Amino acid sequence: MILSDPNKKPRAMKLNGKTAVVTDASSGIGKAIAKKLSAENCNVVLASRSTDKLKEIQKEIGSNSMAVKMDVSETESVTKAFNNIREKYDSIDILVNSAGIMPLTYLKNRHLDEWLSTIEVNLKGTLRCIYAVLPAMKEQKSGNIVNMHQ
Ligand SMILES: NC(=O)c1ccc[n+]([C@@H]2O[C@H](COP(=O)([O-])OP(=O)(O)OC[C@H]3O[C@@H](n4cnc5c(N)ncnc54)[C@H](OP(=O)(O)O)[C@@H]3O)[C@@H](O)[C@H]2O)c1
Repeated sequence: MILSDPNKKPRAMKLNGKTAVVTDASSGIGKAIAKKLSAENCNVVLASRSTDKLKEIQKEIGSNSMAVKMDVSETESVTKAFNNIREKYDSIDILVNSAGIMPLTYLKNRHLDEWLSTIEVNLKGTLRCIYAVLPAMKEQKSGNIVNMHQ
């Protein structure tokens, strides 16, 4: 899969007025990114499974935000969430894929369920969100996707 032209130099982007969707916005790194983007005057869509937590964060960052329930391990949930986002915002300029789990245990313990869940959330969840956001970004001929997982 070719993500972008490796020879193209990244340009500094004005964030003011852009719309950013941040998964993992209910805690940790995603929450910090969401707050920073809001401080840069982005419209911020806070996405995760915990809508109560998202609504609390929304109170902190103000009116240029939206809280949306999204389970990245479920295609239907991701599709529904992005449909809701498009009802409120005309464009989606930035997607930050940060939702993830990181079960810490020794390989020798053979926690197969945890290994498979990690792929389901971190890898397939990232792909589900990219899949959902690409039509809008292609139509507007612009967009930035930041993936926290390698
Ligand atoms: N912190 C580190 O040292 C570190 C190091 C390397 C990589 N990372 C990666 O960076 C990302 C952010 O790390 P963090 O420390 O901020 O994580 P964190 O505090 O453990 O939070 C995990 C986040 O992922 C969300 N999440 C988990 N499963 C989800 C699902 N099925 N659908 C939607 N959201 C889901 C959780 O939200 P809900 O529970 O509300 O859904 C929560 O907001 C993670 O993907 C992690 O794997 C972190």
